[in-house]
Amino acid sequence: MSQKKPHIFDVLIIGSGGAGLSLALRLPKTCKIAILSKGELEENATYHAQGGIAAVLDNEDSINSHIEDTLKAGAGMCDKDAVRFTVEHGPEAIQWLINQGVNFTRKIINHKRIYHLTREGGHSHRRIIHAADSTGKEVELTMLDRAKEANNISLFRHHIAIDLIKQDKNCVGAYVYNEPKDKCETFLAKATVLATGGASRLYLYSSNPAVASGDGIAMGHRIGCKINDMEFNQFHPTCLYHPQAGSFLITEAMRGEGAYLLLPDGTRFMPKVHPLAELAPRDIVARAIDYEMKLYGLRHVYLDISHKDSKFIKNHFPGIYRNCLKLGIDITKEPMPVVPAAHYTCGGIKVDLKSRTNIKGLYAIGEVSCTGLHGANRIASNSLLECMVFAKAAAEDIAQNLKYISIDTNVNPWDESWVTDSNEEVFVTHNWEEIRTFMWDYVGIVRSNKRLARAQHRINMLKKEIQEYYGNFRITKNLIELRNLIVVAELTVKAATLRQENRGLHYSLDY
Ligand code: FAD
Ligand code: SIN
Repeated sequence: MSQKKPHIFDVLIIGSGGAGLSLALRLPKTCKIAILSKGELEENATYHAQGGIAAVLDNEDSINSHIEDTLKAGAGMCDKDAVRFTVEHGPEAIQWLINQGVNFTRKIINHKRIYHLTREGGHSHRRIIHAADSTGKEVELTMLDRAKEANNISLFRHHIAIDLIKQDKNCVGAYVYNEPKDKCETFLAKATVLATGGASRLYLYSSNPAVASGDGIAMGHRIGCKINDMEFNQFHPTCLYHPQAGSFLITEAMRGEGAYLLLPDGTRFMPKVHPLAELAPRDIVARAIDYEMKLYGLRHVYLDISHKDSKFIKNHFPGIYRNCLKLGIDITKEPMPVVPAAHYTCGGIKVDLKSRTNIKGLYAIGEVSCTGLHGANRIASNSLLECMVFAKAAAEDIAQNLKYISIDTNVNPWDESWVTDSNEEVFVTHNWEEIRTFMWDYVGIVRSNKRLARAQHRINMLKKEIQEYYGNFRITKNLIELRNLIVVAELTVKAATLRQENRGLHYSLDY
């Protein structure tokens, strides 16, 4: 059943992660805002972020150094204006988070409590501000508290956007599946913002929560948004390898604080690969692990911090210490088994410095967007920074333009005349598994022309099947995600096929 009367707001924000919440909190209090989330409000990548947020926060560091490190990791593909814009606005973004109540870790030096800055791969200075090893949880929950207090923000959990609505050439909202009520609703707004996160669930092994199925990229693509850089999928080198660990990440900050990567016989292999050893950029570390695993037929390598003082480990990494201990691994005494996993989507919906897409009325912020900051490879902890900086830019642009926009609220409700009551969930789960498996095997850390062609062949078959189910079965969350996943898979394979060189995160045996 679809609801006939639309919900009408000034701004519709699809996504309740770091990007969506900070935008809502930056908009004027006079703005009537709706925020949608697919599941619970805090079920997102932001909540799981561990290491922290990169910004220039002490006198020994400099804006130019942060810019240089970002450009170097991006392998010549960054947009220099976007890099400078983000880095220059970094300190203000951190101060804003502190003002919202975010409690970053401090330490006492010369009787003063100052913010502790950690190090991560590719950064030439300590510049990562963090809340122990659960930075994202602290940021997400603090902003959610502020959003819940605000009278102008309505939060809709378990509301899954299906498609964006275009009126003439403008985006005016979205059709949304209200899961608890099992009905499709229309949300209209003067400005619509995709803050839907990335697409790392496209891969069999991923550090991301289940929401990361690339919905925003697929919805944007369907209404004509420009999509850039989809071949640059980042694999995090160290996810815990354990049958009960799910997608638990071991932060890069652990290598920043001195952890070593080891083969089963206890030898370090990173010093022979890169001068920065374990702190080389992520793509290099992930590929080196992949290489050693293939060379020796290993299921995982090890990450070891047990040579450090046990109090230091427990203080710096309390979440990881507790989680590993629950699984029977005492990281103060022994190494952890780790493997690489899909972690971050560098590509996405192309936006300008005001977070505007090429479709009027539609903005994209956070991991769904491609601002040009990351180029061919994102340096650690630049993504939460990007969420904050571009959310502010979007808020300013929306606030300036809202008064000039009016929309026609006479929009057709969701057409479900074709929907039957039948459902074959087994098709959906089987296809989902198939996509994630061939993406891992053929479009993963190491690619080749043959593997990409094989992936495209599978996509061609699955596209037909999925379109057939979509046209015949009841809408479910899984079906909505599957329909999006195949679009993002194709965008990734096409971009990877076109890039006939090795650059940043894109690595092919043929070049
Ligand atoms: P998310 O936080 O993922 O939020 C997406 C939101 O969109 C969710 O609320 C979801 O429900 C909603 N949504 C999606 N599709 C729909 C739909 N169809 N309808 C309605 N709602 C929808 N980055 C750093 O800078 N530092 C770190 O230390 C760091 N650590 C990380 C650790 C882990 C384990 C992971 C997974 C990522 C980490 N990252 C880190 C990356 C960073 O967390 C993400 O890039 C960032 O949080 C993305 O924020 P976002 O708001 O764009 O998306
Ligand atoms: C981590 O803590 O290793 C993740 C940092 C990031 O993805 O930016």
